[in-house]
Amino acid sequence: MKSTMSASRPSRILQGKVNFPLTLAPMVGLTHVALRLVMRQYLPEGAVTLWPTEMLNSRKLPFEDLSKTPEAMRHESETELVPQILGNEETAIAASVEKLILWGAEAIDINMGCPVQKALKHNYGVALMGDAAYAQEVVRITVKNSSVPVSVKLRAGNQGDFTYLKNFVDGLCQAGASWITLHPRTAEQKRRGQADWQQIRELKKLISIPLIGNGDVQTMDDVIQMKEQTACDMVMAGRALAARPWMLWQLGEKLGFANPPGKTGAPPRSMEEEGAEYGKVLLQLLPLMKKYFGEELAQRKFRFYVKTTSVWLPFGHSLYANVTKGKNTQEIETAVADFFSRTVEMTAKTELRQ
Ligand SMILES: Cc1cc2nc3c(=O)[nH]c(=O)nc-3n(C[C@H](O)[C@H](O)[C@H](O)COP(=O)(O)O)c2cc1C
Repeated sequence: MKSTMSASRPSRILQGKVNFPLTLAPMVGLTHVALRLVMRQYLPEGAVTLWPTEMLNSRKLPFEDLSKTPEAMRHESETELVPQILGNEETAIAASVEKLILWGAEAIDINMGCPVQKALKHNYGVALMGDAAYAQEVVRITVKNSSVPVSVKLRAGNQGDFTYLKNFVDGLCQAGASWITLHPRTAEQKRRGQADWQQIRELKKLISIPLIGNGDVQTMDDVIQMKEQTACDMVMAGRALAARPWMLWQLGEKLGFANPPGKTGAPPRSMEEEGAEYGKVLLQLLPLMKKYFGEELAQRKFRFYVKTTSVWLPFGHSLYANVTKGKNTQEIETAVADFFSRTVEMTAKTELRQ
């Protein structure tokens, strides 16, 4: 049955190109070319969404060869790329933006949500949320130096202070932001505790540019609920969408999109079907990671992916332990194939701790 979601076709993101209401979140160590390529296979035919990168440091980008920087690698077939930058200084931002547009960026996202010390030390990431005028200036200089739209991803206001958030976002809109993504947890909450969807709903009523909601989305039903409860233009999911990329297919089916190219039948739905699909995703990701990142880095990135995403499996810890024991990608692949030679179930919801 088709959903009755009213605003299921966000029309103003990427100049009207985007027509699908779910996008992956930028995540360090996870939102890389290998995961994007595997995930894109589950995007329904004709659906267009955003494809982020993990956060990229604008002070380093101008000096990097992006084809060799693991965080910035892309495949030539990738479109709708929205790389995310950390930054606060015009020369670095201008050089980074120019480079990223040549690389294929169709928009630039500014990170104002990262709470890690490294970002705070340089006064960017969520540190920008502590100074509204400064944050506004960062958006203004990015827009000035960019021929593509500029968006901002941020967190809930200090201690969840909504008036502060509202005024803060007003400033970003005046500075030329094209859309906002809100992850309504405070910096202190990091990624735990409940995301306050009410802040998404209230902010949506007050701003005239599109709003993407993020946080506490684990299933396709959560996507639909967030849209219905908040009227946000799009939903962004991080950990859960990384774990079950076929959520794109499930949602597409619900919204009446065609199957992803080359896929027939219905998307995985039961716990056993989802468990088996997760195994297939792992076995596709590993060789792709090896191809792009080389043997050593592929092992590290794969282990991190399994650590983050296996939490939806009742015995995810033993999968992670087996993957950790593998001394090379060949051994890891054997361990994964062995684990999924039995029936593996995947639960819809889990407690997200990291
Ligand atoms: C491992 C990891 C790395 C992350 N790195 C970034 C990042 O680079 N930029 C960013 O804006 N948010 C980052 N986040 C936050 C996510 O984009 C997202 O806001 C958060 O995980 C909540 O969404 P979720 O519950 O759907 O995962 C990261 C999250 C995780 C789990």
